[in-house]
Amino acid sequence: MALKSMKMTLMVGATLAALGAGVTAFAAGGYDFDYKMEHRHWGFNGMRGAFDKAAMQRGYQVYREKCSSCHTLEHLAFRHLGDKDGPYYDEAFKNPNDNPFVKTFAADWLIADIDAETGDPIERPGIPADYFPPIYPNDAAARGSNGGALPPDLSVMVAARGGGADYVYNLLIAYGLEKPEGMKLSPGVHYNPVMEGGKIAMAAPLTEGLIDYADGTEATVEQMAADVTEFLAWSADPKLEQRKRAGFATMVYLLILTVLLWFSYKRVWRNVEH
Ligand code: HEC
Repeated sequence: MALKSMKMTLMVGATLAALGAGVTAFAAGGYDFDYKMEHRHWGFNGMRGAFDKAAMQRGYQVYREKCSSCHTLEHLAFRHLGDKDGPYYDEAFKNPNDNPFVKTFAADWLIADIDAETGDPIERPGIPADYFPPIYPNDAAARGSNGGALPPDLSVMVAARGGGADYVYNLLIAYGLEKPEGMKLSPGVHYNPVMEGGKIAMAAPLTEGLIDYADGTEATVEQMAADVTEFLAWSADPKLEQRKRAGFATMVYLLILTVLLWFSYKRVWRNVEH
């Protein structure tokens, strides 16, 4: 019996060790990356978390000016920018379709449509109800313009990658580092230790001072990376604040209920001897 359980332990141990070794080799792509992920304090994490409006607005500017030539936001309509808890929510415009920021941003994009009279395909400026348009006619065209790699849709990217906001933030700042000895990069591929295998087919999208921020903030790479990540964290989970508010209210309610139940319990049993 004792021998059997020892054998069992050994087998489980060996399996775990093998798995562990496999995972390490896989994660590092055979190389040892000397990169320490920076864990930022994101205001939207935590029980009563909320998005930082100014950061989201700067983040939208970064997305529009520097990412939207390659990456879509297909789950998002322009009017969502003006939704409650969204980057451009304004109490004066409960209906985001009337929000002047939203209208201006929508009109800044061209949307494929059909002429109602002639039936011809046309392009017109966007309106708040439109969704962010596709950039390429199809995936093949997208790959063709990006050296064979497909720029993924960014609307739910923060939720799609393990590591979430920290992953996207670090991916954007981890460029220009010395690659591990012996690593070969084909043309159009860059070293980035945050990406699995350390290789990415996206050139560094951010460089110092790239953006002229509307609010005058200095555009360091870290600033732009943090801002666009804040915006993308919101687009991946626009109902986060609403959920957290509801969760908090529920907890307060349960707390009050518990106290009341305690007192009524005391009262009901007050004359009973233990
Ligand atoms: C010139 C086109 C181009 C621009 C501009 C660009 N990207 Fe990319 N991006 C790509 C391509 C291509 C990939 C796919 C890379 C790969 O699979 O190796 C990618 C991948 C990504 C990924 C996914 C990485 C992963 O884990 O798979 C993220 C996140 C990302 N880009 C964010 C951004 C952000 C944010 C911006 C703007 C600041 C931006 N990109 C600008 C082309 C671009």
